[in-house]
Amino acid sequence: MAEGLRVAVGGATGNVGTEMLRILEQRGFPAAEVIPLASAGSAGRRVPFRGAELAVQDLGGFDFRGTDLLLLSTGAANARETAPRAAAAGCVVIDNSSAFRMDPALPLLVPEVNPAALAGWAARRILPVANCSTIQLVLALKPLHDAAGLKRVVVSTYQSASGGGRRLMQRLLSPHDPVTVDMRALLHEAQLATTAGGDPPLPFNVVPQIDVFLEDGRTREEWKMEAETRKILGLPDLPVSATCVRVPVLVGHAEAVVAELDRPLPEAAARALLDAAPGIVVVDERRPGGYAMPIAVAGTDEVFVSRLREDRAFPHGLAFWVVADNVRKGAALTAVQIAEALLRRGDAFAGRGAA
Ligand SMILES: NC(=O)c1ccc[n+]([C@@H]2O[C@H](COP(=O)([O-])OP(=O)(O)OC[C@H]3O[C@@H](n4cnc5c(N)ncnc54)[C@H](OP(=O)(O)O)[C@@H]3O)[C@@H](O)[C@H]2O)c1
Repeated sequence: MAEGLRVAVGGATGNVGTEMLRILEQRGFPAAEVIPLASAGSAGRRVPFRGAELAVQDLGGFDFRGTDLLLLSTGAANARETAPRAAAAGCVVIDNSSAFRMDPALPLLVPEVNPAALAGWAARRILPVANCSTIQLVLALKPLHDAAGLKRVVVSTYQSASGGGRRLMQRLLSPHDPVTVDMRALLHEAQLATTAGGDPPLPFNVVPQIDVFLEDGRTREEWKMEAETRKILGLPDLPVSATCVRVPVLVGHAEAVVAELDRPLPEAAARALLDAAPGIVVVDERRPGGYAMPIAVAGTDEVFVSRLREDRAFPHGLAFWVVADNVRKGAALTAVQIAEALLRRGDAFAGRGAA
């Protein structure tokens, strides 16, 4: 019988890390040992796994020798230090941050979209996971591109608070009683917070900024979506225009997409292609509620496509709506799927963990 892997989960107390532990358990990932890691302040905290509780260890002082795999979700600043340190100790690192995604030496793999990119895994033993909004977008774009060629993509996002980590989620969860609350007073409170400077409030609001501004007026989140989409699809010249917006939703990112294609693709054919594509579910009934929404997809693994229609603003244009659980499919699940793909290759873990 095959020997299981020693797997470390970096950021195990956070949104993505918590989901990562849940997914390792749900999918029966062949781990003989799982080690949860977080900041020194969380050392000793207990996290549930396979019916037991595991003690969190300090990631900063952790020696990665003898660990096969690190699933990392501690953010870019920490990943820049931790990922190379773990890789140098012989560990394969799958990192959810933006730190390594656009490194030309490293593959940016979305297993359903560009599985061949996995061949580059050994370059530095670091495999970045794409941005959550990018992952659900490229899953939907890939079958359309294969059938009719992508010419241009315009996407507007409606991104949930969980994409901004636990702190942003806490700011959304209002302590007010919805029955007795004075709505005008609450809005006034939110308006005062807006004029006070700093990050704008998220409750009762829609914020057209995610991550910092770049010199050309885009935000870094918008740049990430544009650049990562081109890299994953292998289309370096594809024009992509993204507008990324934070909305007061707890879990689930939604996107309104318009894709201009090189060749005509009738709506019915596009629907059939999307329906057959791996990881995609088409939910598209033209009645109230007959479409995917964040509240319905939270906790699921698939990317949902709705509101498919021809877009007459462009020649060969298709408009549609894409929704996915950003913490699962947008981060933790895709990271575990990359690890599973590595296991299937058989050359990353010296045969350990093989089925
Ligand atoms: N949430 C999403 O939808 C999503 C999607 C795609 C990618 N990502 C990326 O995944 C990463 C984590 O996101 P998240 O939502 O899980 O954030 P989070 O809820 O704020 O959790 C952050 C985790 O990282 C740990 N951590 C932070 N700095 C650390 C350090 N210097 N040393 C050790 N541990 C440290 C925290 O430990 P403590 O609890 O001890 O502080 C916590 O476990 C980010 O890079 C994010 O951009 C998130």
